[in-house]
Amino acid sequence: MSAIHFDPKQRLFLVKMRTSYYAFRILEDGQVVHCGSGSLPGVVETDALLSGLNVYEDPNYIWESQSRRYEIPAFGDVSYHDIGLKVAFPQPAVPPAVHEAANLPVRDVRPRYVSHEIRTDEKPWLAPAHGLPVRKTAPRETLCVRLKDATCDFGVTLFYRITPEHDIIERWLELENNTPVEVAVESLVFGTVHLPNGRYEVTRAAGCWGREFVPVRQNLEQGRMILDQQGLNTGHAGNPFYLLNARGNATETAGDVWFGALAYSGNWSLRFEALPTEAVRVHGGYELSDFSLSLAPGATHRTPAFVHGCSGEGWGGASRSMHRFIREYVLPHSAELRPVLYNSWEATYFDITLENQTALARTAASVGVELFCMDDGWFGGRRHDCAGLGDWTVSESVFSGGLKPLIDEVKRLGMKFGLWVEPEMINPDSDLYRAHPDWVLHFPGRPRTESRNQLVLDFGRPEVVEHIFTVLNRLVADHPIDFFKWDMNRYASEPGSVAGKAIWRKHVEGVYSIYDRLRKAHPGLDIQSCSGGGGRVDIGMLGRADQVWTSDNTDAYDRVFIQDGFSLAYPPRVMESWVTHEKNHQTGRIASLDLRFDVAMRGALGIGLAFSDLSAEELDACRCKIAFYKKIRPVVQEGDLYRLSFGPDHGGVSIWEIVLPDASRAVYSIAVIHHLQGIHRAPARLKALAPAAIYAITDERGAEIGRYSGFQLMTLGMPGDTVFGGAGQSIRSRTLLLERMK
Ligand code: DGJ
Repeated sequence: MSAIHFDPKQRLFLVKMRTSYYAFRILEDGQVVHCGSGSLPGVVETDALLSGLNVYEDPNYIWESQSRRYEIPAFGDVSYHDIGLKVAFPQPAVPPAVHEAANLPVRDVRPRYVSHEIRTDEKPWLAPAHGLPVRKTAPRETLCVRLKDATCDFGVTLFYRITPEHDIIERWLELENNTPVEVAVESLVFGTVHLPNGRYEVTRAAGCWGREFVPVRQNLEQGRMILDQQGLNTGHAGNPFYLLNARGNATETAGDVWFGALAYSGNWSLRFEALPTEAVRVHGGYELSDFSLSLAPGATHRTPAFVHGCSGEGWGGASRSMHRFIREYVLPHSAELRPVLYNSWEATYFDITLENQTALARTAASVGVELFCMDDGWFGGRRHDCAGLGDWTVSESVFSGGLKPLIDEVKRLGMKFGLWVEPEMINPDSDLYRAHPDWVLHFPGRPRTESRNQLVLDFGRPEVVEHIFTVLNRLVADHPIDFFKWDMNRYASEPGSVAGKAIWRKHVEGVYSIYDRLRKAHPGLDIQSCSGGGGRVDIGMLGRADQVWTSDNTDAYDRVFIQDGFSLAYPPRVMESWVTHEKNHQTGRIASLDLRFDVAMRGALGIGLAFSDLSAEELDACRCKIAFYKKIRPVVQEGDLYRLSFGPDHGGVSIWEIVLPDASRAVYSIAVIHHLQGIHRAPARLKALAPAAIYAITDERGAEIGRYSGFQLMTLGMPGDTVFGGAGQSIRSRTLLLERMK
């Protein structure tokens, strides 16, 4: 049955999803306005919903046209609030009077309804084109509503692709210039979302390099709040997602939460607007400080997608909707489990030799690693970060016999082989730069600012994108490489390009196209998206990458916060987490092997240890923990996440439960971050288990801790939480497996 309904009498569109709805209608003059969205109050008949949706009649909105809830607020209908579309027509449809010529261009566009239809398999701009299977391939319905400017032949089509079972709508726009002249688009969103009037708080991620994804919750006050990234990656300081709820009306487990995320990896903006009337809207689209888009006669522009929805199950429910959507509809290779990875960076940094990599690989295999990835330093003159970037040929001085001996050994040990690359960048001290000094972003006669001694290649040049594809493709064709770690280590400056201001979009398009072509040519290749840690994580990238590097900060204590924030929008299976050294290289803090593993096992487990520092007992412990991870992996990577203890300080203890949708197995993970003597926390009450079933709880060595009913675990809570992690006990963290008894 279709999720999309249209009542011709009221000219009302209703999208009815599993637990939520979204509605808008066409006014008499053709304006398309929002009517409401939110969670459904139980089972509601479609007819009842259609007949009840007339909120737009409220005089507040009728009289104050500037505050009207346009599905696409355009500069013309609206001039003193934020807008989703602004266009400059160089001349009016009717020739102007001579004395009016100075008033041009016409910065006024008023989209009015023309027609609508339901299509299947419509795609936004930059939808992945690698052809790899996502888990769910059933065609989805897309409502396309065609509008046209009231005066001239300039088209705006609104797209709504519906994923009803996860309460998700993907929105995008297409502009079509059918006027005889070139028009300049000055502002453009992928979609605008309206909320019921009220006072809201927003939950989002903030931070910086080494502190990505730290959750922030703040009130939205009257005015505008902008989250954005003026850059060529998604960014460390913020991430294009949000969770919004009426103040005081949501918790981790209950209340309506409107969420959204952009499927785009550069120059994005999320603009939150709280009007004096207490109307609240979110405009999600391109960042505008250096934006430019020209449409020649006959030209179109389709935007990437703004993914949004509403959950009645609080912040946790909003996260789970996004996780399921990403797992089932976005990720490539989602039917496979992510392997246990070894990464050489913190063990050897640039000091790579055949001998040390072979030794690391042998120990990695002996403790159960499945994928060995050699990091930076294997190519060209790259013995440090001052040279060699751009020269993607194996360094003769490091690997005199090429990579074959190392790869052969890795494969003989039964592991997959992965390689670090940073394709968008170049050191001025490189053969590529010496050959093509004009291939970098720069303005003529102006400084070329280096960061980490590198410049950014100009992906506005098709020959540069082609060159990068060719060298990466050759690497995979010449070697049995199973995995790329695709890194990106600097911000953009001096964005001078042959593409002009379109470089912001061209760069993202170029990166995506190389990913897509590589994956088409090598369907078995896996790719990790890394950008100096978690600088390139978003739904657009997750359509191309199998997993992401969450942060360069591998300190388990900091990681608890970073991973919590990450989990607000993105699922544990893509969240690569490494166990690194006892004394952390980024923070200098000491953490036990138990804590490091327990925190890393919440995602796609990786190891970044220098094994030579470890005793035989510690290596045994690693072996045991990795074997345990493999046992719990299907739950961690396929299950639904419940953050049982979440917040700015978690009350000192962070607890995650991940449970399979059929409630047959669950993983309980506790990590004590700080503990104040004398506090006795109530046991965490588990979620989504089968109440009547008995669950056996086992630890990493397979020892049974106890058997309890689902009812007890969900009402009285996890017995002995304090024993597992609090009240002056020596255990600071633990991961346990719960299995339903037959
Ligand atoms: C930044 C990454 O996040 C690190 O893991 C490592 O790959 C370095 N770059 C290598 O230069």
